[in-house]
Amino acid sequence: MRLFRGTFLDTPDDPFRGGVLRAEEDGGVLVGDAGQITARGSFTSLAAAHPDVEVVDLRGGLVLPGFVDTHVHFPQLRCIGALGMPLLEWLERCALPEEARLADPAYAVELARAFVGALANAGTTTALVFGAHYLEATEALFAEADRLGLRITSGLVVGDRELPEELLTTPARAYDDGLRLAKRWHGVRRLRYAVTPRFSLSCTPDLLEACAALLNDVPGAMLTTHLNENCAEIERVRALFPDSASYLDTYADQGLLGPTSVFAHDVHPTPGELDDLAAVGAAVSHCPTSNLTLGSGLFPLRAHLDAGVRVALGSDVGAGTGLSLFKEGLQAYFVQQALGAAGVPLTAAHLLHLATASGAAALGLSSTVGSFSEGLAYDALWLRPTPDTPLDILLRYAASADDALAKAFAHGTSADVAQVWVAGERAG
Ligand code: GUN
Ligand code: ZN
Repeated sequence: MRLFRGTFLDTPDDPFRGGVLRAEEDGGVLVGDAGQITARGSFTSLAAAHPDVEVVDLRGGLVLPGFVDTHVHFPQLRCIGALGMPLLEWLERCALPEEARLADPAYAVELARAFVGALANAGTTTALVFGAHYLEATEALFAEADRLGLRITSGLVVGDRELPEELLTTPARAYDDGLRLAKRWHGVRRLRYAVTPRFSLSCTPDLLEACAALLNDVPGAMLTTHLNENCAEIERVRALFPDSASYLDTYADQGLLGPTSVFAHDVHPTPGELDDLAAVGAAVSHCPTSNLTLGSGLFPLRAHLDAGVRVALGSDVGAGTGLSLFKEGLQAYFVQQALGAAGVPLTAAHLLHLATASGAAALGLSSTVGSFSEGLAYDALWLRPTPDTPLDILLRYAASADDALAKAFAHGTSADVAQVWVAGERAG
């Protein structure tokens, strides 16, 4: 057993439903040998009740629940920073050629190491990750995630049309390869499988049907894909699926819409689609830096909340500009500000919730991670800037816990994350 000491901030009560930031200054979190939080409160009272327990001193800076990134592409680390293109041109010129390079298993292993290490360094302890179009490369991601101990849900990305030849698969192969990977990794320690059709634009109805069969045959698997990101994409999907009433229906018609589905972007939804997402409890991953980099649009958060759709945050690297959810949170705030009266005024507590508990809920992991409540795993990041840097000054002189958290989102980067734990074990 260990007693962690520091300033703990979390949002067990949803700020979108009236909850406020929970802050424990000079707090204590008692963690059992299996990595579970067994008690929390003031450090003094916990230390008095457990005088012989080892103390881990994290005073200075802030301790936050480990971040949950609900949409990120492992093969696209090197695509970060390709500016000036809309989605379809960016895919053709940047992302897809790079994804084809993962046919080389040695290169895939190198990238998997860099990617998983960078996730941990960003304070991301749980993620829903787009794997590669290649089985061995996706295998490398799972193996590396397992080695570091992160909570990763991922899967083979599949498409059978409108992609470079070397990335194409067939419905039968997509099912077989996916099942092979799921049998090897789904439920292994902190790993799970996600059925991952790239997007309807690159999938025939037969392929989506094969994805639904796989989803059905792997109990507990998730489904993740893209939805309503860009207007040209939406038009193309409409033309390719004349029998589907909406973009969302291209998935729903094949049985891919459910409570374990996470759809990235949804920048341009129809009211009917929002109702359908809410009705089944599907989640949307909001990826602000990606939406701004590709000029996809300003995310209609208000419409999602009003319809009752669950929303979390995704970095969407490599269209997104980095793996830090501090940056995504800040950009989510900017987008809502830019929308003026149509936007949702976000506080720092909203941003923390979107980056932690909302993500855990989207991934069906609310009873495991997302806050520092008793019974959850101790997944945490320690934001501890170098002394006398601007962020250190900002945190030291913050007027309140909410103020400190706002400053963390405004100025925090991966470089300020000093330590990271998953279930009480160091991960970065
Ligand atoms: N839609 C289909 N593939 C992708 C991708 O790799 N990135 C983004 N942002 N959108 C996509
Ligand atoms: Zn994406």
